Amino acid sequence: MTHRRPVALAHACRLINHGPTVLVSVSHEGRRNVMAAAWSMPVEFTPPRVAVVIDKSTFTRGLVLGSGLFALCIPCRALADLTTTVGRTSGRDEDKFARHTIASFTGPALGLPLIEGCVAWMECRRIAEPHSEAAYDTFFGEVVSAQADDRVFAEGRWSLRADNADLHTLHHLGGGQYGVVDSVVSGKVLDPT
Ligand SMILES: Cc1cc2nc3c(=O)[nH]c(=O)nc-3n(C[C@H](O)[C@H](O)[C@H](O)COP(=O)(O)O)c2cc1C
Repeated sequence: MTHRRPVALAHACRLINHGPTVLVSVSHEGRRNVMAAAWSMPVEFTPPRVAVVIDKSTFTRGLVLGSGLFALCIPCRALADLTTTVGRTSGRDEDKFARHTIASFTGPALGLPLIEGCVAWMECRRIAEPHSEAAYDTFFGEVVSAQADDRVFAEGRWSLRADNADLHTLHHLGGGQYGVVDSVVSGKVLDPT
């Protein structure tokens, strides 16, 4: 049984609001690829828009420029090894999907390869910003489909609990290490009276 559910586009930016490491997946003219990216963020709610840094050295970048499309897949604790692997190897010389037996499914809006085992997925159309792409390696995209695993994201919110720890998102600390959420605190508006 799949736990994948559509997420309203109005809530799509919440999927990366808390700064998880993402997997950028892409395909173009028969080539597909996936890399890790710690640097992504929402930049607009309506329409939902995101930014992600895709370095000039990456193979992914050429496929994004060629296709005008990219997906952000959000891996969980159980995918820590895969995240490091696709972040330390290049798809330039070999297909990472075949090499590492990475299962994917087809994105509903753009047909992009979305990574199985992740806990959220967004398909994005590149918004061409040649200056920021060249100067800062920063790519912008409009989110056109969003999905999430309903065991950790439901009714427009993440729900990171002790009983779904394997599904918690990864937060890059450097050196192949990731933090995961250990506990959640509520923030209330201070009442100065
Ligand atoms: C945890 C992690 C986070 C990373 N974050 C980024 C990032 O935000 N931007 C980037 O350009 N590269 C980032 N990288 C490096 C790329 O994933 C790496 O260069 C990858 O090998 C590129 O693959 P490709 O050549 O197949 O596109 C990260 C790597 C790791 C392991």
